[in-house]
Amino acid sequence: MWAMAAAGFGAELELVEIPEPQAGPGELKVRLLAASVNPFDRKVVDGMLRSSAPHVFPLVPGTDGAGEVVGSGEKIFGTFFRRPVGGGTYAEYVTVPATNALASLPEDVDPAVAAALPTAGMTALQLVEALGPAESVLVVGASGGVGSFATQIARAAGKRVIPIGRGDSLVEADALIDLVSADRSSFEANARYAPLALNTNYVSADPAQNFSMKGTKEALERLASMVQAGELRVPIARRLPLRGAVDVFAGHGPGKTVIIM
Ligand SMILES: NC(=O)c1ccc[n+]([C@@H]2O[C@H](COP(=O)([O-])OP(=O)(O)OC[C@H]3O[C@@H](n4cnc5c(N)ncnc54)[C@H](OP(=O)(O)O)[C@@H]3O)[C@@H](O)[C@H]2O)c1
Repeated sequence: MWAMAAAGFGAELELVEIPEPQAGPGELKVRLLAASVNPFDRKVVDGMLRSSAPHVFPLVPGTDGAGEVVGSGEKIFGTFFRRPVGGGTYAEYVTVPATNALASLPEDVDPAVAAALPTAGMTALQLVEALGPAESVLVVGASGGVGSFATQIARAAGKRVIPIGRGDSLVEADALIDLVSADRSSFEANARYAPLALNTNYVSADPAQNFSMKGTKEALERLASMVQAGELRVPIARRLPLRGAVDVFAGHGPGKTVIIM
């Protein structure tokens, strides 16, 4: 099969032909239709998990995807992260533990849209839930994957959203979602603007401020229903064919990058 993969940590992605993965006990083999790109994928290629998980090379990144289960033909979408790391969704086939967060792909939802939802959408849903009754919320990094979903979901929940892009000044609010700060001092500077402050990059000394998404089938089903009902718009900035996805991590403006198999 064809895949985009890195030969080593930090290496550029290149198109490679590798054997199709074979499903082990309790696993599904899935023919992918689409995969989406998340910042986590690049971090994995750069070696973020090198000391905490075994890896296989060439390392195929990619957690999110939508595809068809080989054998049953059922269409599904969700998170395909697995150990060893490196058998990801930037490929024609993937194998995944059946216990991962996976849900049926409704017939009327474009596989590219479904592939764009899992990590960013579930993170946004759970971040907004974590805000409780806060009426106003600053979203730092609002134009990205998580930010664009969080903005819509928070507004639908009746909250006043203040999107913060590059160079924008912060104002006081009830809550802050920081999707950008990569160090403690940047986050602390932002967190002064709201009594409830959360970040997604694990940069706070206070674990309660370090948000971690928990993938579930129910959250995926909820996101798919919101898309079907027209309540959630999925901004796809780029659709790249698998064989042309070499610059997949390049900046692309607002929205998600999706790889089409
Ligand atoms: N903890 C968790 O469970 C969890 C889950 C999901 C994601 N994450 C993390 O959350 C972060 C955001 O994820 P994502 O998928 O939303 O990423 P993304 O799609 O790359 O979006 C990030 C957004 O932030 C903007 N941005 C960059 N620097 C900025 C600045 N200084 N001020 C304001 N905006 C700025 C970017 O704009 P430009 O296009 O101009 O660069 C982009 O729109 C990533 O670090 C990701 O790894 C964590």
